[in-house]
Amino acid sequence: MALTAVKGFNDILPVESGRWHFIEQTARKVFELNGFEEIRVPVLEKTELFSRSIGDATDIVEKEMYTFTDKGENSITLRPEGTAGVMRAFIEHKLYAQDPIAKLYYMGPMFRYERPQKGRYRQFHQIGAEITGVTDPLADAQVLNMLTAFFREIGLTEPTLQINSLGCPECRPEYRVSLRSFLEEKMGQLCDDCRRRFAANPLRTLDCKVPGCAEATAGAPSVLDHLCGGCNDHFATVRRYLDLSATPYSINSRMVRGLDYYTRTTFEMVTMLLGSQSAVAAGGRYDGLIAQLGGPAIPGIGFAMGLERVALLLTNQDFASRPDLFIATMGEGERDVAFSLMDALLKSGIRVEMDYEGKSLKSQMRRADKLKAYYSVVIGGNEASSGKAAFKRMADGFQTEALLTVAAIQVLLNTTEQ
Ligand code: HAM
Repeated sequence: MALTAVKGFNDILPVESGRWHFIEQTARKVFELNGFEEIRVPVLEKTELFSRSIGDATDIVEKEMYTFTDKGENSITLRPEGTAGVMRAFIEHKLYAQDPIAKLYYMGPMFRYERPQKGRYRQFHQIGAEITGVTDPLADAQVLNMLTAFFREIGLTEPTLQINSLGCPECRPEYRVSLRSFLEEKMGQLCDDCRRRFAANPLRTLDCKVPGCAEATAGAPSVLDHLCGGCNDHFATVRRYLDLSATPYSINSRMVRGLDYYTRTTFEMVTMLLGSQSAVAAGGRYDGLIAQLGGPAIPGIGFAMGLERVALLLTNQDFASRPDLFIATMGEGERDVAFSLMDALLKSGIRVEMDYEGKSLKSQMRRADKLKAYYSVVIGGNEASSGKAAFKRMADGFQTEALLTVAAIQVLLNTTEQ
């Protein structure tokens, strides 16, 4: 039996990779405009990095990590997300010594042992950005504006931005107490997971998808009513900056994130088009994380988007790359002329295809159609000796005569609409 890929691990085939390039290039463009630089970190890290950052009581650490013991008896894990590794590198290489403000972006595969379905995979790809060293809400607003700008640049008005504040170590414990005492009364209605998480992670109940839990928590106290003065001011300023830049958003006080490191601002880009996998991008502030991982007390904020989910939202666009010109030949005698012309055109950056197998003219033209070439040209004995040929615009059959030289073909491609 033929071998297949591991469940939840996908091949990105050429029909799809054009879309991925477009997403990646747009992210690079928008992030670099905002002063972010790329960082590349390993896909494998010590398991402890994730348990100490994402949190032991989270779904990711409890049940979704690809963790194994290597030949040296070390427990290592395929990264389930990017922030922890980037912050580990930030601390390990003392990037903060030069400047505590680092603006870093990354892209690459992440691994979570989740139940695969549309938009949810075991190997998936994130494009993320993190900014360290700024407590001011201006950083929150810049990150949110940058994420919004990315979606605008790729041409999506969906998804929409939802924001919340989860408070800080000063005010969140109080909120937890108040939420717990509310939930205590509803214990009977909660699912097994929420009952189990009641002590360590009661906030998760607020975004549990089980209908009974959603019903039970309908009147739950809001985290926004429990923010301390500092967190309240911070959140108000984030909103003011978003208003100043006309960035659309809504407040969702029930948004809790699946990772423990968040403080204050959290956010998600949400779509209605992908069923239950509604978060296309998500992130927030993590003011305690760097210190928690053994670094200095430096705050941070960032996000990651799911590349597969963004790609799913772009499926109605065609990203296949097309040849500028297809060169067909009448017979064997013209193949040298055609090959030399193709070679010269490729060297000057014009995408050319020709027939590899010496097929009939009819089948060469079929291939030109199949490849969706913008132009085609047929070189026969006359064309080879005169150095001139008729170039056909494939979309409408319009023909123009031009010299078989790089310069003339460049002019033709630039002046006639493709
Ligand atoms: P996250 O919410 O766990 O946050 O993941 C971010 C995004 O990754 C999600 O919104 C989703 O689009 C995508 N994603 C997550 N799991 C899967 C999956 N199994 N299949 C496909 N896509 C998935 C983080 O990972 C944080 N590190 C984000 C962050 C950066 N916070 C601060 N900085």
